[in-house]
Amino acid sequence: MGKDVIIACDFPTAAQTLTFLDRFPERKPFVKIGMELFYAEGPSVVREIKARGHKIFLDLKLHDIPNTVKKAMAVLSGLDADIVNLHAAGTAEMMRAALEGLTRPDGTRPLLIAVTQLTSTDQTALERELLIDRPMDEVVLAYAENAKNAGLDGVVCSPLEAGKVHRRCGSGFLTVTPGIRFADGEKGDQKRIMTPAQAKLEGADYIVVGRPITAAADPAAAYARCCAEFID
Ligand code: C5P
Repeated sequence: MGKDVIIACDFPTAAQTLTFLDRFPERKPFVKIGMELFYAEGPSVVREIKARGHKIFLDLKLHDIPNTVKKAMAVLSGLDADIVNLHAAGTAEMMRAALEGLTRPDGTRPLLIAVTQLTSTDQTALERELLIDRPMDEVVLAYAENAKNAGLDGVVCSPLEAGKVHRRCGSGFLTVTPGIRFADGEKGDQKRIMTPAQAKLEGADYIVVGRPITAAADPAAAYARCCAEFID
């Protein structure tokens, strides 16, 4: 898989998501399905979107004991998603178990990427609540390295961290980056942002774009603009 734009389909129902995806008749976008839609609609929404020809990033961020994650990943591998994820904080043992669960009898599996630290966690929470007394950058890179050593394919990170992650973990280790805004667009609640063109320069492999596309007056045009800046 190469560079691509993933649309975060943060809609509450399958019907709304499918209506939205009908607006992209030509190039079928890579779609991110998160907890809200998955918990509301279940595995059938993944199968339906996949059957329509989209690639899928199933963003469920698993984090539990290794045996539970392994079994859950075995179920998810049957949904034929292209990327799934978990929390690196679950430890290398959990990540290795996840890979085992995800691998199908024929040896194929979806890509598995890790969340290092949530972007909603700041330095104060890191120190006072998680009791990690180190700079956030250092923690993110150490967790990324742990994920790589456990055999994972990449991490979710800010586009501002993509270059650093590649330098630490190698250019083949995937960086999937939310926090993307057009230069002339609304920032919303995202704080550490980059444009698609800047994310490309930083070396991000995939950008995850939600509201700049889903809330645009013309989502297909906004998607085309993202692709033009990031891929073409
Ligand atoms: O609408 P927006 O472009 O901000 O959407 C970004 C998407 O990426 C949302 O689905 C959000 O939950 C997700 N995400 C994020 N930051 C992270 C991890 C995931 O914005 N660190």
